[in-house]
Amino acid sequence: MQHVNLGIVGGGTVGSGVYEALQRNGTLMASRLGVGLKLVRIAVRDLKKARATKFPRELLTADWREVVCDPDVHLVAELIGGTTTAREVVLTALKLGKPVVTANKALLSAHGEELFAAAEKYGTNLYYEASVAGGIPIIKALREGFVGNRIPALYGIVNGTCNYILTRMKLEGANFADVLADAQKLGYAETPPDLDIDGHDAAHKTGILASLAHGFWVNPKDIHVEGIRHISALDIKYAGELGYTIKLLGTVKQLAGRCRVQVSVYPTLVPNSHVLASVNHSFNAVFVRGDVVGDALFYGRGAGKDPTASAVLSDLADAALDLKTGTKNRIPPFSPHECAGTVAPIEEVVSRYFVRMDVADKPGVLAMVATIFGAANIGISSVIQPEGHEGNVVPLIFMLHDATNGVAMKALAQIAKLPAIKGRPVMIRVETFE
Ligand code: NAP
Ligand code: HSE
Repeated sequence: MQHVNLGIVGGGTVGSGVYEALQRNGTLMASRLGVGLKLVRIAVRDLKKARATKFPRELLTADWREVVCDPDVHLVAELIGGTTTAREVVLTALKLGKPVVTANKALLSAHGEELFAAAEKYGTNLYYEASVAGGIPIIKALREGFVGNRIPALYGIVNGTCNYILTRMKLEGANFADVLADAQKLGYAETPPDLDIDGHDAAHKTGILASLAHGFWVNPKDIHVEGIRHISALDIKYAGELGYTIKLLGTVKQLAGRCRVQVSVYPTLVPNSHVLASVNHSFNAVFVRGDVVGDALFYGRGAGKDPTASAVLSDLADAALDLKTGTKNRIPPFSPHECAGTVAPIEEVVSRYFVRMDVADKPGVLAMVATIFGAANIGISSVIQPEGHEGNVVPLIFMLHDATNGVAMKALAQIAKLPAIKGRPVMIRVETFE
């Protein structure tokens, strides 16, 4: 049987998962594909590091160029992360005409256009299924399965670390820092984990999905991003009492005018009746609305060694087949289509809102806050002042009707300046999926 020689750069969580999965299922894959994958080199940073996965010593090097530039290596997997050396690894391989598989969403978000152009220029390809939603084949679904659809809306729980933290805070009342430490131990979190909890990892992935859905490359600077640091046990509790679950949601929505799109990442109140509210722990889900297919849901493990390895194997299989059949650009990494779209500024996006504030416990405060919302033409759909909090400061929770983010943020800034408001009000958007 024909073989494709594989070189892997990076033998950490994902690299070791790929190595082990190839050991386990390499023969099965070869029989399915009619072409085998033979691992011939692996680069790591530190050859002396103790590792749970025992790579054959003769395959190891600490110099990634020995992998990428080895004439016996036909196909390269970049699994080191980061955007500096990783960019060099990918560009060097592409310039040598070698196809590259990457799991690196940060790299694609920052340098995608440059890398795709290099793949085209040097007549090869770049595959990135593992960059979004771990083991879920969402890149393949958008590029191939839904090729005949416009995508008016797409919502993704695409960060396993944040979903794991929010789930355990909700179900166990767990403390943020403790759960984050567990997510790190389990290999879900990025280095540093700020990329996860401040929403940037989800933004990298949401940008990639938005680009594929709308056919223009989304600049990460245009994505409105909020993380989960400010979400407290109180927000989770009161959202729950109102029938919602808080999720960090990537949202890609076509706005009026076909080429204008909302692309954002922020904690969102999801109605408990919606399927995304039940996506828990490190699981990811992407809810896609196509104009032909209707609603479709993709669910699976979004982070960790084995699910990510599964997605890398899928790309390695495509690359090996393309090498075998000489069809390196059958599905190019990214093809612009339709019109050159733009990302709408968050101020223009219309949402509903959950607002929680701590207020001085005295008459007239509720009326003052309601007056500001009223003057901004923002309707209040419900107000809760939980009983049993009498004292100097009490919580006040509002559910607000549709308003643009610009108007809602301005009203909240005004409210925050009232002497009766203690601390910064928390505003979380509500999604109805209509
Ligand atoms: P990781 O555990 O930190 O592993 C990184 C690996 O790269 C390590 O083996 C490290 O070597 C090696 N390395 C770093 N710099 C190197 C260099 N200059 N030359 C050679 N080797 C180098 O990271 P990971 O979690 O596997 O993530 C890898 C990529 O997959 C990232 O882009 C990440 O965003 C992405 N990803 C991760 C997950 C996940 O759940 N972990 C899921 C999807 C995508 P040493 O072992 O010697 O330190
Ligand atoms: N840190 C990422 C997450 C890994 O938690 O989702 C998977 O991309």
